[in-house]
Amino acid sequence: MKIGIFGTGVVGQTHAERLTELGKEVMIGTRNVQESLTRHQPDNFKRPGFGEWHKKNNKVRLGTYFETAAFGEIIILATNGSGTIPALQLAGKEGLSGKVIIDISNPLDFSKGFPPSLFVCNTDSLGEQIQREFPETLVVKCLNTMNAFVQVNPAVVPGDHSVFLGGNDAGAKLKTRAFLHVYGWNDKNIIDVGDITASRGLEQILPLWVRLMSVFKTPMFNFHVAGAPTQTI
Ligand SMILES: NC(=O)c1ccc[n+]([C@@H]2O[C@H](COP(=O)([O-])OP(=O)(O)OC[C@H]3O[C@@H](n4cnc5c(N)ncnc54)[C@H](OP(=O)(O)O)[C@@H]3O)[C@@H](O)[C@H]2O)c1
Repeated sequence: MKIGIFGTGVVGQTHAERLTELGKEVMIGTRNVQESLTRHQPDNFKRPGFGEWHKKNNKVRLGTYFETAAFGEIIILATNGSGTIPALQLAGKEGLSGKVIIDISNPLDFSKGFPPSLFVCNTDSLGEQIQREFPETLVVKCLNTMNAFVQVNPAVVPGDHSVFLGGNDAGAKLKTRAFLHVYGWNDKNIIDVGDITASRGLEQILPLWVRLMSVFKTPMFNFHVAGAPTQTI
């Protein structure tokens, strides 16, 4: 399975590393390949710059968003929320047509500092904006409600905990489920919350997630819906 990941940040890197470990072929997409390879300064979380990361993970291909869209059978969106639609526009509608797009991005607005607010909410969401702007794609909102390290390896949080998915296409949600299984998610913990308008709730949970992270002083936790009935797949 070939996976295209939009995003050179911690989320893109974490998925690329884990998928490569699991034997998948991966390409990361960025606006400017050469520029991203010259990033050597540590980021805000003191992680090495993308150029340093890529030296250690050189099995991961690097391309433009356009090339990454063409490469991936599944596309993961791990772009800054404000850059998600611009990144897809750079990829172009043709290369994205018919593809399953797993949208992990969150519409976080840090313009007034921390904690962030949401730049779209209540009656709309980033997931819906993407699906409206690219009607020929199959968008599934998923994994945005937890830290990247938990996304790719649920076992790092003990016990049962939940991952949600929402999207308009049943086949795309099945493919997303299969993708989650690769990371070790069990069906009993995968909760289908309906069509793409479910993105509203999945994105609006972020202010609570951010608050919990401040209280716990760690991002290594997740939500668990206790007593959730088993869903028919
Ligand atoms: N951190 C987590 O554990 C976590 C958990 C759940 C969800 N999320 C969400 O996952 C997403 C990625 O987070 P992150 O911290 O890894 O990275 P990030 O710093 O939020 O985003 C980095 C990526 O966004 C791209 N980008 C930014 N502005 C753009 C624009 N105008 N046009 C095109 N691309 C643009 C950058 O492209 P270039 O490479 O070209 O610079 C880069 O690849 C975010 O939406 C975040 O809210 C994060």
